[in-house]
Amino acid sequence: MEDVLDDLIEWLRIASISALPEHAPDVRRAAEFTAKLFSQAGLENVALIEGEGHPLVVADWLHAPGKPTLLCYGHYDVQPAEPLELWRTPPFEPTKLGDNLYARGAADDKGLAIILIKAAERFLRAGKPLPVNLRFLFEGEEESGGDHVAAYLKANPQALSCDAALICDTEMFAPELPTICTGLRGIVYAELKVRTGAVDLHSGVYGGAVPNAIEAAARIVAKLKHNDGGIAIPGFYDDVLAPAPEELRSWAALPFDDEAFRRDEARVEALTGEPGYSVVQRSWSRPALEIHGIRGGFTAEGAKTVIPCQALVKISCRLAAGQDPARAARLLAEAIDAATPAGAVASLHVLHTAKASIVDPRSPFIREAAVAMSEVFGGQTVFTRSGGSIPIVGLFADLLGVPSVLTGFGLPDDNLHAPNEKVYLPNVYRGIEAIMRYWTRLGLRQSEGM
Ligand code: BES
Ligand code: ZN
Repeated sequence: MEDVLDDLIEWLRIASISALPEHAPDVRRAAEFTAKLFSQAGLENVALIEGEGHPLVVADWLHAPGKPTLLCYGHYDVQPAEPLELWRTPPFEPTKLGDNLYARGAADDKGLAIILIKAAERFLRAGKPLPVNLRFLFEGEEESGGDHVAAYLKANPQALSCDAALICDTEMFAPELPTICTGLRGIVYAELKVRTGAVDLHSGVYGGAVPNAIEAAARIVAKLKHNDGGIAIPGFYDDVLAPAPEELRSWAALPFDDEAFRRDEARVEALTGEPGYSVVQRSWSRPALEIHGIRGGFTAEGAKTVIPCQALVKISCRLAAGQDPARAARLLAEAIDAATPAGAVASLHVLHTAKASIVDPRSPFIREAAVAMSEVFGGQTVFTRSGGSIPIVGLFADLLGVPSVLTGFGLPDDNLHAPNEKVYLPNVYRGIEAIMRYWTRLGLRQSEGM
């Protein structure tokens, strides 16, 4: 497994932060490195696909006639590493401590995506044919809501034709509990601009007589949710689909303790959210509205007496299955209009959207994966959902008509999007083993009738 660790470390050294324009050259280097990993694995037709935004990296191996074709998806971009001062080891100097490898992107997604590449390499480098046909599609803007991959998929569905997609970008429900994720939430991500005047004003001379943009933004934001944590946007919950009763029963049987989750995993003072739903239901099958940042006014050291004339709020709604992103965005904009106090002008700019996706655990592609995971990790594979989003999954369903198999090899404490992100290396190795077994099982079937 030395090659896996060496290649992963080299990949993780590249600061491929897709959201920050100054890192565009790094993102490109990471795309080129991805292509190198594909070639080295013995995959064919390796290519970078250019377009709006960061390159896609594709490859294939299509020499198993009659056998199923899987579309292996991953992303080589990462989240920004800030706040840097909270990292115990530098985010782009991958550091192995015991069984964990620490780096930005260690679990999201390079350390999990490499599982798919190395599983293919294990067959092809040993001179063995792959049991199934594989297409690889890796993108470089999953974390920043870019739409290059969506545009490519819309324009070239035949180039990606497959029977199912396979994605390693989710986590196990608990250590040692083999997990397949059967649902992801969608998202509407937006910026709210609030303006109250032409220039900032002296708060002594004008205070009490003119509006304040930060205060207006705070009033707007506060009106979007009830005090108990439910979303206060009229009609927002209308189209939310309830999970099937057997799905709810299986969630209730998962080992989950609210208090341990609060104290040890989330490490928050108290849990919040929509009344009448469990923590698991709130984050998997109900929408959420979160404020990510408010910019404006004076935030430096010391005191400055000023009335800010503008404010910017970063805001997102996670969407549940059934909700239309365009409708959710419209309802959000209308609620903001209704909540805007006199003297303020608010404008909402949607940055990106994706719809939620759910897959049927009875699909043979899911069932075979569940068996392979059980064989390697031990115990029965559980089906969970995740509150996170992988935007392309909804499009794989809509445009290619295929289910996505989301095999979870991350752990709940991997610190995704946070300081000290890590991957538990034994899971990477067991993941390779599980994916190889999965392909072998699928290879016993004909694609016809699956
Ligand atoms: N890998 C995550 C999604 C995820 C997180 C799945 C945790 C399961 C458990 C993915 O890379 C991600 O973070 N996506 C973004 C997408 C967004 C920017 C459109 C997200 O969910 O915030
Ligand atoms: Zn990811």
